[in-house]
Parts: sequence; structure tokens; C-alpha cells
Amino acid sequence: MSKSRGSGAAARTTQYVLLLLHRGGGGGGGSGCCCSNTSGSPSTATAIVSRRCATAPSRSIVNNDKFDRRSSSTLLSSASSCSSQRQQQRGIGNDSSDNRRGRVVMTGGTRIIIRDAATQCAPAQKVLTMDNVYDNLVKMEYAVRGPLLIRALEIEKELQKGVKKPFKEVIKANIGDAHAMGQKPITFLRQVLVLALNPQLLEDPSYPEDAKERARAILGGCKGCSIGSYTESAGIDVVRRHAAKYIEERDGGIPSHHQNIILSNGASDGIKAFLKLFNGRLNGKPTGVMIPIPQYPLYSATISEFGLQQCGYYLDEDNKWGLDVDELERAYQAAKTNSNPRVLVVINPGNPTGQVLTRENIENIVRFAHKNKLFLLADEVYQDNVYDKDSAFYSFKRVMTEMGEPYCHMELASFMSISKGYMGECGLRGGYAEIINMDPKVMAILMKSISATLCPTAVGQAAMDVVVNPPRQGEPSYEAFLNEKKSILSSLAERSRLVVDTLNSIPGYKVNPAMGAMYVFPRVEIPEKAIKAAKAAGQTPDTFYAFQLLEATGICVIPGSGFSQKPNTYHFRTTILPQKEKLKSMLSILKEFHLKFLKEYS
Ligand SMILES: Cc1ncc(COP(=O)(O)O)c(C=O)c1O
Repeated sequence: MSKSRGSGAAARTTQYVLLLLHRGGGGGGGSGCCCSNTSGSPSTATAIVSRRCATAPSRSIVNNDKFDRRSSSTLLSSASSCSSQRQQQRGIGNDSSDNRRGRVVMTGGTRIIIRDAATQCAPAQKVLTMDNVYDNLVKMEYAVRGPLLIRALEIEKELQKGVKKPFKEVIKANIGDAHAMGQKPITFLRQVLVLALNPQLLEDPSYPEDAKERARAILGGCKGCSIGSYTESAGIDVVRRHAAKYIEERDGGIPSHHQNIILSNGASDGIKAFLKLFNGRLNGKPTGVMIPIPQYPLYSATISEFGLQQCGYYLDEDNKWGLDVDELERAYQAAKTNSNPRVLVVINPGNPTGQVLTRENIENIVRFAHKNKLFLLADEVYQDNVYDKDSAFYSFKRVMTEMGEPYCHMELASFMSISKGYMGECGLRGGYAEIINMDPKVMAILMKSISATLCPTAVGQAAMDVVVNPPRQGEPSYEAFLNEKKSILSSLAERSRLVVDTLNSIPGYKVNPAMGAMYVFPRVEIPEKAIKAAKAAGQTPDTFYAFQLLEATGICVIPGSGFSQKPNTYHFRTTILPQKEKLKSMLSILKEFHLKFLKEYS
């Protein structure tokens, strides 16, 4: 147990009050629930720990830091209810009146009775405590839903309660959740889902025939013709086949096999299932996973959770967040000292940086991965989100296949999601992975591993089916579908330009051109005085800046440190997702805030 965890737990438990009653000799200790232990004589050195209450006697010791870490967390676990009647039935309660209904624990020669003041009932020892909860999960961080969002939600509640603030609403520009920011669902996609969920409507003439045909195909692939049944672990067969066809069309006819497609609960689930394959240590060293810096925090979080080794390579901010192979080489050599680098993660288009890799860049990355025997993980969830007229999305699969021998045999896992693109269906949790050139025996292990969680959500799979099998020319829904898709994508493109241009007009801001994805990652010059203030507040300068912004304006962005960034540079990530008018007003408030911030801290 690290020191910081210990002190954290102690801090969390300061609401408990320790009443020191009297000192004495040794005596019986105890453990377990309130109903299990009262041994020892009344003369034993005894204290009662009770939950803080307004009537705490004057001899209370509020600070429990004097306890050793283990005993304090044991002591301070609380059981909610346990009647004195039940205690008596178990022969308990015949101790002195002070320790009745209390659990007795020994610490440093002092006998402690724990009492929950609210229930007048002693707490039970928890099986799972901060001492024994899985360490890697304690270390794991996920900034996108971290402290900034927690505070933003609190502020929202304060506003609801009528607390006066210099703003009327919180603008959550922290997460790529398009529907939450007002984007409307694609009609055809929802029609197919409605029909699959309520097949009676297949008789309803108001639904278009192509939507009915899609719903019938999905239901035909479901056991008992119901979307409420478990599906195969890798997903509904027909959806996998549609995904393979979609990939083939996307990649100019390069074959894709449905056996290589695994459907998942969003891309996150698939990425985690894949990375789990690398959990084992080789020659005592963990697998090194090379990830871009800045990165999407799913990667750092999963790497922490699984005990893998994060090996960051810096994206080149001065070159539109491009990926430089020399930097990959540097990071790879550095990674070799404490890990076995085996995976190279590339996010294209990038999150949080929004870059779209050129074909040439991808070719160089493929060569690098081949030379160093790395499994390529291509996170391509933003493949529909390319806004720059001079850029295009090239899949890693296409590039490495077209590069021919030996690259076309490289191992690759590519991920796609229904949460991004034009559909933005984050809550339905749909995604797929196409995994190629994996050893078939390992693929069987992966299949076995995902089968333990039965299957991804069938509704998410149905939504994915629409994405990979959209209305075709000549079908009744084609025009409307295409219009909705185009309108969302062009609005995103317009909003991304608006954000970049406005932010670049703010003194001290520097932003790369908007190329793709759903985010902008401006670099902000933070004055020395503000850096000192951040230090005094125990925050990184970018976190300090983001909190100041949130408290002053209600705008919630995520500080660059949540994604990692080069030392002594400060950024934040904002989405481009608020609808246009709201985005405009957000940007002007942001500008005003920054100018005031500069004045205050210059
Ligand atoms: C780069 C990247 N990969 C994966 C994901 C996960 O998406 P999903 O909602 O499909 O799990 C996200 C979500 O924001 C992302 O930005």
C-alpha cells in the first residue's frame, strides 16, 4: 500500500469522531461485525469511534490520523443497521453501557469500540476496502469523466437549487457525445431499431420498406427472432457479414471476412478485449503499448488497469500533430528498457488532436511496425469525420495491403464505433473490430475470452448494422438518409473551423487547423503568476485554468494533462459539438474569460 493511498483513506475518514474513554491494560480484541465481538474486560483501554454528530462530546478526538492505516480503515467501516435485539439474541450487549452495540478492535494497546452514531449500531468490517481493492484500478485515471466533470455536475445542481452564478448553464464541452449536445438521431437508424424492438410495427404502412427489410434481416439473425435474445459472442452473423462488405467497399474492394469481425459494446469494449491478450509478462517484463501523446485516455486507463506498460510517442504539434517515425523510434528504444513493446496504437483521425494522417505517413508507420514486430492497433472510430478538403481517410488495412509483401501479412486490429461519425449513438454501445492476420489459435482464445461475457448488446449491434448497411441508391430512404448524414457532417466541419478560427484569434492561443474527429486541442500560454497560483492550489497549470474557466463561465473542458502533453506546454480539449449558436456564444465567453485571466495573472 502506497503512502498516498493510506493518507487518502485517512482523509476520507476524518468525519469519524474518536471518544477516548479510559486507559487500562490489554484485553480482548476482535473483528467481524457488530454482532460478533465484545470480549475483554471493561478496564481495557477503550475508545468509541462514532460518526460525526453535532452532539460530539468535548473530549472527542476528531483527527484519527494517529491510527495506523490498516486499523483505521478497519475501524471506520460502517454497517448500516443491526438492532440491539439481534445483538441480544446472539448474547451480545452485556458489556459496559459505553461499549454496548459497539465493535471492539485493538490498536496500539488501546481498545476501540466502533459505533455508528446515526444508527446507534456498530459498523461491520468490510470485505473490500481501500487496503485490498485492486491496486491498478485505484491508480487508473479517466480524465474525460474526471474531476472537472464532477465539479460541472455539482455546479449544475447548484444552479438548479437557485445558487447565483455569473452564468445560467453549464456547457459540457468535455466529451464527444453528440446527442447530448443536441444532435438529432438519424431517422432511418432509429426506424430500424424501433421495428426490430417492436416487430408488430412491421405491419405498419407508415414505416419505409427498406427499414422493414433491414429489421427483418436483423431479427432473422436473432435467436427466436427476438432482439431480446443473447446473440453469438462475436455478434449476429448477418451484421458481421454486412460489416465485412462495408469494409470491402470502403477499402476499394480489398477482401474482408466476416469471421475476422467481432462486434462489441462500443469500440472501448473491443479495444479492452484485444489489449487483454497482452497482459502476460515475458521475461519478467510487461508488454509495452506504444500510444500517441496526447492520447485518448481509454488507452492510459486500460494500460493501468491491465498492468501493461505505457510507452508514449509525441505527436508533432508544430506539424499539424503529425506522426514522426524518428519519434516512434526514440519511444520504442526507450520502451525496451522496462517492457517488451508489442503493440503500436494509432488513432486516426486523432483524438484529442484532430489530425488526419496522410497515406505516406501511414506507410511509414506500417514499415516501422513491421521492422519492430509490433501488432498494429488502428483506432479508426472517426473515419467518417474528415473535414479538411485536402485530407482523406485511409484505413491501415488498405494501406498495408496495398503495400504488398511483406506488409500485407502484418497483424492488425482496427476499431470502429457507432458513437462517432454522423450517427453519434454513444449510448447504444455499438462497435466492431476487424482483426486480420492474427494466429488462428490466438483468435480462438480471444473468442473464448469474449464468450465469457456472453454477447454485446443486441440493440447496439442492430444500430451498427444500419451504419454498415445504409440505404442504397434507389431505396425509399436513400435521399433522406444521405441528406441527414451530409448535413450533420458539414455542420461538424463548419463548427470545427469556427472553433479553430475563433480560438486562434485569442491572444496566447495556438490551434492547428481543423482536419477531423470532434475536438480541438488548443495550446494556451499560461502566465507565470498563474502557474505559481496553480502550484499553490496543488494543481497543474492547465487544470487550474480549466477549473477557473468552469467556475467563472460554466464551460467544462478537459485539461491537456488528462491526455498527456509535452512538458511545460498547456492545452485543453474542447469538443466542437455544441450546436452552432451555443458554440458561438461559448467561444465568445471563453475569449472574454481568457482576456480577464491574462489581466489578473500578468
Ligand atoms: C479515439 C477513440 N477511441 C475509442 C472511443 C470509444 O468509443 P465507444 O463509445 O465506441 O466506446 C472513443 C470515444 O470517444 C475515442 O475517441
